[in-house]
Amino acid sequence: MREQQRMVLGATLAAHLRAGSTYNTGVTVARPAAAYHDEARWQAERSLLAGSVPVVVALSGQLAHPGDFATFDLPRLPTLTVRGEDGVARVFVNACRHRGVQLTEEACGHAGRVLVCPFHAWSYRSDGSLAAIPDAEGFADLDPSTLGLVELPSLERHGFVWLRPGDLTGYLGAALDDELASYGLDSWRAFRSVAIDVPANWKLFYETFLEFYHGVYLHRATLAHLMQRNLVHFDRLGEHWRMAAAKQSLRTVLDDDPARWNVLDHAVVSYDILPNLAVNVHGDHVAVYRILPGDRADRCVWHFTMLTPEAIEPDSKAARYFDRNFDYIVETGREDMAMAASAQRTMAATERVLHGGFEPVLAAFHQRLDAALA
Ligand code: FES
Ligand SMILES: [Fe+2]
Repeated sequence: MREQQRMVLGATLAAHLRAGSTYNTGVTVARPAAAYHDEARWQAERSLLAGSVPVVVALSGQLAHPGDFATFDLPRLPTLTVRGEDGVARVFVNACRHRGVQLTEEACGHAGRVLVCPFHAWSYRSDGSLAAIPDAEGFADLDPSTLGLVELPSLERHGFVWLRPGDLTGYLGAALDDELASYGLDSWRAFRSVAIDVPANWKLFYETFLEFYHGVYLHRATLAHLMQRNLVHFDRLGEHWRMAAAKQSLRTVLDDDPARWNVLDHAVVSYDILPNLAVNVHGDHVAVYRILPGDRADRCVWHFTMLTPEAIEPDSKAARYFDRNFDYIVETGREDMAMAASAQRTMAATERVLHGGFEPVLAAFHQRLDAALA
């Protein structure tokens, strides 16, 4: 976040705290609960996520060196992203060109110069081209130059590898594009990742990251003591959003000139990049959340990766510090998961849900999905 935006946001949160107010649109929107369990709608959303919008399939921090790879399974489209010897990250369909076996099922790792299929050991270079076929005379009638991995259009930007980016700057909008650039996440490193199955529709779980009204209630045992109660400010950045939730410590700088303190020290700033990405800035680490539909309308997968400004030595003091933060985020995420799962169980018996004045991103998220599916 650039200095000017930091000062404006800091002053806005401080004004809310002084006035005892918070961001509030004053408008409540009702949404049919069917959006969370209707099978046809869920299929359409899956197709949208796998084929029509820019989606983050890997983080630059997972691909620091040539030969590093990351996998990400979109609906009906398993992807494999590999950093080539030339430094370019390329996204491939994660399927061997012989009989379709996935080249790796690991979330990320280092393959070295070639990736070897576990079935019959066909091997591929990091640029996707076929390196070798064992006992190649069995395929003598084929041209090896046509047997490289199938590459998909992608672009690495702001520390993320975007599948089908199209006009990514246009998609993000100039304001968000510049703000993401300001963090320099391209050079940050993935410290740890986890993928957790959640028994709820993907939207119900994603929505828990899009508001902080629930913060001190649901998370009373985990993060409530760190945060101000429902003191949040939202800014719309193009089609996406920045949400800033004030920490208790905001009180300590309340009377100081906002030019003399950094709002990132006194608020958790998150970017809600529709349709399924949330990036939370916690000062010395960044939490990246990607929520994907699962194999049923009432299932989803939570992908969480923690980024740190530099590589962390295993078993070091820093590693223990970041491990504690990672576990803490998972613990609070499980509290959100329980709510999403509980709401999921009532959806078929419920007519509608309400998105109120403190939940502007939820209303915008649904409008946007409706428009994309229309
Ligand atoms: S399926 Fe990969 S080598 Fe046979
Ligand atoms: Fe939460």
